[in-house]
Amino acid sequence: MAYWGCVALIRGGLMAQVVRAYGNPSRLEEYLPDRDEPVDRWFTASNSGNARVIARTIIDLAPAAPSVVIDPFCGAGSSATAARLLGIRFAGAEIDPVLACVSLAKTRCGPSHGADLPRPPDKHDEPQLRCLRLLRELQKEEGGGELSEDQLLADLARAPAPVPGSTVVCGDSTDPANWADLKLPEAEAVMFTSPPFYGDWHGPDVPPPLRAEASDIVSTATNRGRPDARNGPRRGYCDLVVGALQAMESVAVHGTAVVEHEPGDDGTGNRLAVLSERIRDETTADVVEILTTGDFSGTGTLSLVVCRF
Ligand SMILES: C[S@@+](CC[C@H](N)C(=O)[O-])C[C@H]1O[C@@H](n2cnc3c(N)ncnc32)[C@H](O)[C@@H]1O
Repeated sequence: MAYWGCVALIRGGLMAQVVRAYGNPSRLEEYLPDRDEPVDRWFTASNSGNARVIARTIIDLAPAAPSVVIDPFCGAGSSATAARLLGIRFAGAEIDPVLACVSLAKTRCGPSHGADLPRPPDKHDEPQLRCLRLLRELQKEEGGGELSEDQLLADLARAPAPVPGSTVVCGDSTDPANWADLKLPEAEAVMFTSPPFYGDWHGPDVPPPLRAEASDIVSTATNRGRPDARNGPRRGYCDLVVGALQAMESVAVHGTAVVEHEPGDDGTGNRLAVLSERIRDETTADVVEILTTGDFSGTGTLSLVVCRF
């Protein structure tokens, strides 16, 4: 495996963990989204990652060829683009409807949706096309770019085709019901996720009509009502990660999980150690190792917690 660095044992609360340095990503430019990456450049959130780096990490850390990439906190979909680049099915969950639509578009839209884009909207339009239209509007907002419609269509033509069976649910990923419909394989799943590191996450600021349209798209697509991330309870980083792993277990999915972690304060002291302990105590997953990469924010080192679940 590439990038072997120092192997050390550190004490983290009650447990000892194997920690090693890992150089992916190695520089801030690698960590950030690439503004030239087709499809991924359509819209990014303030803490989106780099799709090609994620793809490399998945291949590097998965023990076998993954049958599906899962991201329970998929935001604006860097991991969805990574799965598309790899030609692997993607299953994502995102509680914010605007971001869920962005991820859905990155996961499911192909050239045929581009061809339909100029058509006047119709109430029977499929969710992918509605997501693409929403994206055109989001382009003018925070996280959007300056892409012309021609550039969007060119991305759809040159990006790898959407992988059949890929999908994104809008809802709480710690609720097993949100995974039960997805028909996930029992093994060889790879979860790659960047959960909210800090408690102040509130989704992109977009005008209310666009948020309402996003809510309508996801509720039509899933028939699950109209989620709005802004009304839900706020939970800490460790609760979310443990909850998502428990939800995966309850629908009998097994594989490797790679969970990003940056230091943050939720009153638990050394949160990385707390997370490892909670995973071991409250789930059937094993923390295999902790990989430390670079310092990409003011809060300290980005670590990747690798589990078998
Ligand atoms: C750090 S961001 C993910 C960024 C993402 N990797 C990207 O490419 O944009 C974490 C995401 O988790 C979402 N989230 C928070 N709580 C959630 C929950 N209970 N279920 C599903 N998603 C949740 C947030 O709305 C946010 O978009």
